[in-house]
Amino acid sequence: MTTLAQKWGIHPEHGWLHGARPDEPVVRDQDSGVWNVYGYREAVAVLGDPATFSSRTAHLFAEDGGDVIAEGDLLQTDPPRHRQQRDLVRYAFTPRLLAGMEPRISELVDELLGAIADPTGFDLVDAFCSPLPILVVGEMLGLPRADVPKLERWMREMAASFGDLSPAADQAEQERVFAATAVLMEQVVEYLREHVRARAGAGGDGLLDRLVTAEIDGERLSEDYVVAFAKTMLAAGHTTTSMLIANTVLCLDADPGLDRRVRADRSLVPGLLEESMRFLSPIAATYRATTRPTALGGQELDAGSIVMVWLAAANRDPAQFPDPDVFDPSRTPSSQIGYGHGIHFCIGAQLARMEARIALNALFDRFPGLRVADGAVPKVHPAFDTTGLASLPVVAQV
Ligand code: HEM
Repeated sequence: MTTLAQKWGIHPEHGWLHGARPDEPVVRDQDSGVWNVYGYREAVAVLGDPATFSSRTAHLFAEDGGDVIAEGDLLQTDPPRHRQQRDLVRYAFTPRLLAGMEPRISELVDELLGAIADPTGFDLVDAFCSPLPILVVGEMLGLPRADVPKLERWMREMAASFGDLSPAADQAEQERVFAATAVLMEQVVEYLREHVRARAGAGGDGLLDRLVTAEIDGERLSEDYVVAFAKTMLAAGHTTTSMLIANTVLCLDADPGLDRRVRADRSLVPGLLEESMRFLSPIAATYRATTRPTALGGQELDAGSIVMVWLAAANRDPAQFPDPDVFDPSRTPSSQIGYGHGIHFCIGAQLARMEARIALNALFDRFPGLRVADGAVPKVHPAFDTTGLASLPVVAQV
């Protein structure tokens, strides 16, 4: 029988999406020495113990590339510095500030949908899912609207390039990918640097304005740091949110009965989005490095090991989710870990949930029917550590 994952062309290595189950929760790849963590319990244990499982992993991939990638990146920072850095930006994601953004996000959603030239046939990712998160984060950072297409192109290219990187690849291949990504990143960094410089002393109230005057232990953040933080916000919030929206439309397309039920009862949308995150987790895997020898899932790991935590596999662990291959939005509360777990839990999770909720409701309102175009094969993102659509041709009834 053809599984949905086969029909959708999802990476064959993501066996859990094809109905297979890993034999063990923790398995060492013999060629690369990387430890793959597939079990839910084990994934939560790794993410919940930053003292043993460090987030500073970039230097393990490339000696000289590590700092370029890691600088100012919360995801590459361990305690105690991590807490200090996260505290500086936490305010921008409080429920009150997010609620204040809701009307503006609705306007942006309507604008994008209204601009679709032929609503009876278009690519949902290109026209809607991909530009929306860049518009939202761009406004949070105070970047000019006219630059959004350029930013979006850079982010898509960067995600595609960085996505080629695998810890299983040999050193030369890893260096090649880092070099290609660094070139793209340099363009983004130069662009953001101009905007950060313009902020210094300008006295504005945006996220970038606040960061240029923020201090840790009495010291101002460096320009490099603020620039790198802005880059992380753009990169972490873009393809992920785009995938969440497109993946959810794809899941509804596979189940017309569910599509009808959700359209009729919009209170089902939040549960639908959580199940979409579990079923097709945009960030399929994240990395850690062991700081000391440790035991995990019946295995003994040496200090300095690379650990690949497969969030997408943990989200299909039958010990945690009965009938994990059944798409069931009524699994509430969902314990899915698509936004991570522990101190690095996604700072933008509520923003992503809100954007996706507004986006889906607007799609339902505007298009009484929205189906994947006949014969079209949705294009999945090539990066082996993501699960999500790069393109989705749809036909809509208007
Ligand atoms: C962290 C997924 C949206 C910014 C994370 C982590 C995951 C994740 C899995 C933790 C990774 C780890 O522990 O190694 C997602 C998904 C999203 C999404 C699936 C959308 C569906 C966003 C948005 C933003 C954002 C919209 C900001 C605008 C961040 C940042 C971190 C993070 C800054 C680092 C937090 C830290 O290290 O303390 N995200 N994310 N994310 N996310 Fe998201």
